[in-house]
Amino acid sequence: MEDIVKINIDGREVEVPAGINLIDAAEIAGIHIPNLCYMKGMKGVGACRLCLVEVEGLKAPVIACNTKVRDNMVVKTKTERVQEVRKFVVDLLLSMHPLDCMTCTKSGICNLQKYAYEFELKESSFTRKKFGYPVDAANPFIKRDPDYCILCGRCVRVCKEQGTSVLDFMGRGIESKVVTANDRPLQESECTFCGSCVDACPVNALLEADRWRKGREWEYEKQNSVCMLCGCACNIKVSVRQGEIQKINSGADEGSVEKYLCAYGRFGFDSLSSESRLSVPLKRVNGELKETTWEDALDIVSTKLRETGKNTCIISSASIMNEDAITLKRFAKDVIKTQNIDTTISLYSNIDTLKRFAKDVIKTQNIDTTISLYSNIDIFKNSGRADINSSDLIIVIGLDLSQWDRVLPAIDAAVRRRVNRGAKLIVINELETGLSSVASINLRGNEIEIIKAIILSLKQNGMKIDKKTEEYLENVQEVTEEIKKSAEMILNSKSPLILVSPLFFNAATNIAIIKGNVIAVYPEANARGVALMGIETKEKTYNEIINSTSDLLYTIGNVPLQNRPETNFLIVQGSYLTDLAKNADIVLPATEYLETSGTIIDYAGRIRYLNKAIDSYGASKSHREIFREIAKKMSTTLKMPVESEIKKASNIKAKLSAMPFEKTKDLYFEPEKFIEILNLTVINNSRLLWLKESAEAGAQK
Ligand code: SF4
Ligand code: SF4
Ligand code: SF4
Ligand code: FES
Repeated sequence: MEDIVKINIDGREVEVPAGINLIDAAEIAGIHIPNLCYMKGMKGVGACRLCLVEVEGLKAPVIACNTKVRDNMVVKTKTERVQEVRKFVVDLLLSMHPLDCMTCTKSGICNLQKYAYEFELKESSFTRKKFGYPVDAANPFIKRDPDYCILCGRCVRVCKEQGTSVLDFMGRGIESKVVTANDRPLQESECTFCGSCVDACPVNALLEADRWRKGREWEYEKQNSVCMLCGCACNIKVSVRQGEIQKINSGADEGSVEKYLCAYGRFGFDSLSSESRLSVPLKRVNGELKETTWEDALDIVSTKLRETGKNTCIISSASIMNEDAITLKRFAKDVIKTQNIDTTISLYSNIDTLKRFAKDVIKTQNIDTTISLYSNIDIFKNSGRADINSSDLIIVIGLDLSQWDRVLPAIDAAVRRRVNRGAKLIVINELETGLSSVASINLRGNEIEIIKAIILSLKQNGMKIDKKTEEYLENVQEVTEEIKKSAEMILNSKSPLILVSPLFFNAATNIAIIKGNVIAVYPEANARGVALMGIETKEKTYNEIINSTSDLLYTIGNVPLQNRPETNFLIVQGSYLTDLAKNADIVLPATEYLETSGTIIDYAGRIRYLNKAIDSYGASKSHREIFREIAKKMSTTLKMPVESEIKKASNIKAKLSAMPFEKTKDLYFEPEKFIEILNLTVINNSRLLWLKESAEAGAQK
């Protein structure tokens, strides 16, 4: 029986999971306990004392955020005594806080305002104190106004937990202040401008830099979606006003370990309405690209495709949605009848790797973060789930994740958060990586040899090894003390998870079939989806296409090509006037992910749903619409993919099995370069350019 306890809160009997705190328990009973410093998913620190409650049998009130429920506990959350303390706390905070709710951007979602209203405090009864701290607003992302700070410490804690540790308290008591190292502006610190602290701040002390007079919370329409700018596929919440995106916040559940966005996902949306967006089709006339109508563009494209037929070469990005991928597959097979169709995936992974999952991940197609909301529960019990949230041992192989360089930064943040909550980390890499500094064990050297040695050590410790694995296990290097310790950690772990570069996936599989789960991670958001929807070359590969002369080359989405490959005719279908588009014969404007609904399958094999947040830019159309319209011109009707088809295609049956200890050959897995190249247009056409220019200026000093 799951550990459930019965408690009575304000006269309501309620059953709640054992081990959770009183704020969360009260919430289950539908009762709100006022709080300012508590963050769901994090341990209560008792800084604000607003959450005091009375517990039967105890003389003094207790702090609800760090008091765990006990069976038959009787709790009162609104006694005169605790309400008085709360009113006093809010009154005191107001004496140090600007009273400008009329113009404050956070009005409506500010917790201090909410409690002042609740306790009928228009003014503070204490002498007002004005600090007049300087505002930190010299960067285009985050404005820090310490005069509004109520010292709840939420920003300090989220920044620490995710491993960036930029913020801390300086000074004592009410004179204390949240600062960066040496109290320098954010851009002179190690800040990555992820904005997690902005999402955490309950008042107006931390805010997006451009929010002034861009509307307040209640004026926004909110849409949940997923960021497609890298393989992390973070949940986002998009705020729209008058048809324009005003801000993007993390869309993950409060306190979820997936609650993270990097600067790309949070601030890159400026590019959607930038000058380099494509709003109408373009065609080359006398050497120059000129605007044209869809009708004309579709006529030209369909005529050309009819001519080149099976010799047509197609290259697609893996950052398109499943619906686009299925339509593209049908379009290539049934309309153009070409087999020369490949994707950017073939640069960094083989398709087989993408079709195989950790053995338990298939059960978990949808994100379930409920368990991580209750920080006091032992979430390291053997859930058997292949995700970072519920692993007590994470093994990172051949990956250099980095929040600072934005290399799969949300995965880096999630790993660091798990480590900060007690999980162990083993890093296996030829070189030193960013995560090395927080690892329990660093195994430096050839990744394949290290994996082999770990398996031998597991065997020496009595673990049953697959027969096939034994056959592949030859010439194992010395089993060092560190390797032995690593094997012991795996043995003692309840739910180990291996995060691996696709290059070492096969070798790492051999550990996972003994114990734990393995997930290969990719630079593009829908690499798994595109592979599972069935886009796979039968003839020319990506590299063969760009290194030979083709009759016609059709590129789809953001492909890492700047120069025009040798081709007699180039069709570029994308959202921006990239260098490649400038060299095309015809350019078809496509919508961006925030302008289209659909699905992707993320690195962990979960189907994720994207919702259109704003209208298509200009006359741009979704990839799937464009394929269908060209097909129509070629007298074929392409059906629209339906959800059941996508679910069926993503329901992988391929089981993990023993694999040879070999690095996958001829692949180029450098996500640090790849992600930046893929996002160049977003970076160059948004405030993110400031980051690039600052980094370059820093490098020149
Ligand atoms: S933006 Fe991110 S890294 Fe910078 S201070 Fe805030 S939480 Fe820390
Ligand atoms: S800046 Fe905001 S989140 Fe940070 S301590 Fe002050 S009020 Fe709390
Ligand atoms: S980590 Fe990747 S998916 Fe997440 S916000 Fe950044 S770019 Fe988007
Ligand atoms: S929420 Fe419990 S002390 Fe602040």
